[in-house]
Amino acid sequence: MTIETSAHTVMQRCDILGTYSEEPNRLTRPFASSSMHKVNEIVGQWMRNAGMSVQQDTIGNVIGHYEAHSPAAKTLLLGSHLDTVRDAGKYDGPLGVMIALACIERLHTHKKRLPFAIEVLGFADEEGLRYHSTYIGSKAVTGTFDLDALHLTDADGIPMMQALQAFGDNPDPVMLRTARWQRDELLGYCEVHIEQGPVLEARNLPVGIVSAISCQKRIAVRFTGEAGHAGTVPMSLRHDALCAAAEFVLAVEALAHDLPGLVSTVGQVNVQPGAINVIPGEVTLSLDVRHQDDMVCEEACRQLKERAYHISLVRHVSSDWQLLQEHPSIPCSTRITKMLAQSIEELSYPSLSIPSGAGHDAVTLSNLTDIGMLFVRCRGGISHNPAESVTTEDVAVAIAVVERFLTLLAQEETNE
Ligand code: HGY
Ligand code: MN
Ligand code: MN
Repeated sequence: MTIETSAHTVMQRCDILGTYSEEPNRLTRPFASSSMHKVNEIVGQWMRNAGMSVQQDTIGNVIGHYEAHSPAAKTLLLGSHLDTVRDAGKYDGPLGVMIALACIERLHTHKKRLPFAIEVLGFADEEGLRYHSTYIGSKAVTGTFDLDALHLTDADGIPMMQALQAFGDNPDPVMLRTARWQRDELLGYCEVHIEQGPVLEARNLPVGIVSAISCQKRIAVRFTGEAGHAGTVPMSLRHDALCAAAEFVLAVEALAHDLPGLVSTVGQVNVQPGAINVIPGEVTLSLDVRHQDDMVCEEACRQLKERAYHISLVRHVSSDWQLLQEHPSIPCSTRITKMLAQSIEELSYPSLSIPSGAGHDAVTLSNLTDIGMLFVRCRGGISHNPAESVTTEDVAVAIAVVERFLTLLAQEETNE
């Protein structure tokens, strides 16, 4: 089985998984959906065919286990997420699971066992599309799941608990709060992911290493004015919630341009009552703020919260600010990053280290073990977009790097 064959299989499998969606003409695969259920079945079968024992855990992660050559060995975790955003590309998440699976398949084909077990994790929810609370899958395996999330409701008013029961799980709160492994049982977690940025392409490199994952805050901001008749309320007497929100959105953009390295996004706007001839009475918008430096992220949010309040005073509306979730900037482990760098250099590529503006399940796994990430070049840095694409050649390089990494880790384990 050549690496090129394995890379080709990875691409084919990403194509197949990309056809499982909740929407007919675009890829949208949310947490605990029927398309997720189907994907878990398919990925589970591919894992079994690669010599792994497979289970779906209480939150809907699909987990493959590849035994070590001795039962007392530690475990290395590989994987990424299988859920997607709305109108997604087919590589954000699944590529990392498929590359990890390809490496196991190659070990299995050559009947090779390592001095450690490997678990490949296909996480149930990293994007937070359905319940706006990300990393649900990886939180459930690291014992950091917030049980209150079970009561979050989706756009149809379905609580997460009910969605999981419909998915076929009966989430056990104790299990959700219990880490699947003890820290000393693990060798680390390594995630392969598309870069979702332009750096590797600009430097003409197939792969790169992640130095750290940026600080990220998700906030719901609500402006409440007064609904009214579009034809009879004079402009001077209006309390238009959407105009207040619009002024705030431009303030978000302006601050991000002023603060180097800050990225801020308003991705969702909900206007109520949402009728063409009614002055908007209430607008809720999402705010996503990120920076490599926690302090700058914190300060930016403080300024934006103040700005929202000021806009509401001037426009005689009210504003509410609700932090949905946040995580600090998470550095990747030097130990794993060094081994990934050595693996890349042994394949005669320079090992470029870049920060990740995107969040990843590695953030959550960092609560339990050393983390490392390998980025794969993606065309134009495009992601969260159906135009997302990688090349088979770069996937082959990523597989070779992970194989070298496994060899280095095996040497480290054997020498200990
Ligand atoms: O939003 C992110 O950074 C990731 O795609 N969940
Ligand atoms: Mn992702
Ligand atoms: Mn994503």
